[in-house]
Amino acid sequence: MPDNPGRKNIVFPKWVNYLLPVLIVAAVGGAAYAPLFVNYGMGAPALKVGYMPQQPVPFSHKVHVGQLGMDCRYCHTTVDKAAFAAIPPTETCINCHNPQDAVNGIRKKSEKLAPVHESYITGKPVEWIEVHQLAEYAFFDHQAHVNKGVSCVSCHGRVDRMEVVYQVEPLSMSWCLDCHREPEKHLRPVEEVYNLGWKPQVVGNETLEQAQLRIGKELKEKYNIHDRAYMTACSTCHR
Ligand code: HEC
Ligand code: HEC
Ligand code: HEC
Ligand code: HEC
Ligand code: HEC
Repeated sequence: MPDNPGRKNIVFPKWVNYLLPVLIVAAVGGAAYAPLFVNYGMGAPALKVGYMPQQPVPFSHKVHVGQLGMDCRYCHTTVDKAAFAAIPPTETCINCHNPQDAVNGIRKKSEKLAPVHESYITGKPVEWIEVHQLAEYAFFDHQAHVNKGVSCVSCHGRVDRMEVVYQVEPLSMSWCLDCHREPEKHLRPVEEVYNLGWKPQVVGNETLEQAQLRIGKELKEKYNIHDRAYMTACSTCHR
């Protein structure tokens, strides 16, 4: 077993990990991809739909987002600024769950919050378990998506209704490509990216799907989305 069993829940036979990067290098060709060799075998293939590891704290998005109405960016502060969507440090939770704050310390006697309080006192971070993980040889960037009108819901589902977060989409290459070929099926105004329940406004007797296509095509133009050749080029995701 690997030393971190929660994160390395590999569903592929092990040899695949070694073979895939070799296949890419063979298919893409060229010395520019040599660094891929260095990374081989390091990432678990992210094909685990339904993967729902048990977290050290039963943190509920349903409560914090669905009921309290918190914005994703309150906690995932880098999602629109970087490739990586930050997992919040303990201090973010302590804004509301301070065990020493008699007035604003929400649920400060809660057993469920014990690991958060311990982390606050010891300075050791809470050990959240990663849910989504692409292989190292695939490049992904959050800001490139959320700042161009691709919502969290397209890739993570209705997180605002989840008691415990799990993986909804396969995150496979063909899944990425489905959208990269026809992004108009998914684009929405950037200001609605964090509003997971958003639906396109229907005009006349359009169906919801037709409304999405109409709005998606407008936004594709407006946001200057790359053409299909670029969006599906190997070097866009294998750099
Ligand atoms: C109050 C803080 C907070 C808010 C607000 C919040 N999250 Fe989270 N999120 C967390 C924490 C803590 C984790 C890690 C624990 C877990 O997976 O439940 C997490 C994990 C996740 C994960 C899984 C990450 C992984 O390991 O792969 C996704 C996806 C996610 N959040 C999406 C969202 C979306 C979308 C929103 C807005 C609709 C949002 N979150 C709002 C705190 C927050
Ligand atoms: C903006 C304030 C706010 C922030 C920030 C916040 N929470 Fe909460 N949290 C609440 C409120 C309010 C409740 C109580 C909801 C209720 O009464 O049902 C709650 C409830 C909880 C509970 C359930 C406690 C119980 O006994 O049922 C847990 C666990 C929890 N939060 C974890 C976290 C974690 C972990 C973070 C940081 C990633 C966090 N919260 C950040 C406001 C916040
Ligand atoms: C186009 C698809 C897509 C969109 C849109 C998207 N994500 Fe992700 N998200 C992913 C993928 C893929 C990963 C795994 C990344 C990896 O392993 O490198 C991920 C991982 C995460 C993680 C774990 C930390 C990390 O960066 O690996 C969090 C938290 C997260 N997403 C939150 C969000 C939030 C919040 C939004 C919306 C504001 C969002 N995501 C929008 C695909 C997406
Ligand atoms: C729901 C639609 C959707 C999904 C799913 C999706 N993407 Fe994208 N992706 C886009 C859009 C739209 C852009 C913005 C393109 C632009 O700015 O021209 C983009 C941009 C990117 C970029 C930046 C390209 C650049 O150079 O500006 C990368 C890299 C990327 N996607 C990788 C991925 C990977 C890897 C996956 C699968 C894990 C994925 N995407 C899944 C819609 C999607
Ligand atoms: C939109 C992003 C994207 C583009 C464009 C793309 N790939 Fe991929 N590729 C991925 C992702 C994501 C994976 C799977 C990563 C994982 O399993 O975690 C992958 C996996 C692979 C694999 C491993 C086998 C498999 O299918 O899972 C090979 C080989 C590969 N890509 C080659 C290519 C070649 C050749 C091209 C150009 C024709 C290309 N890719 C274009 C995102 C992309």
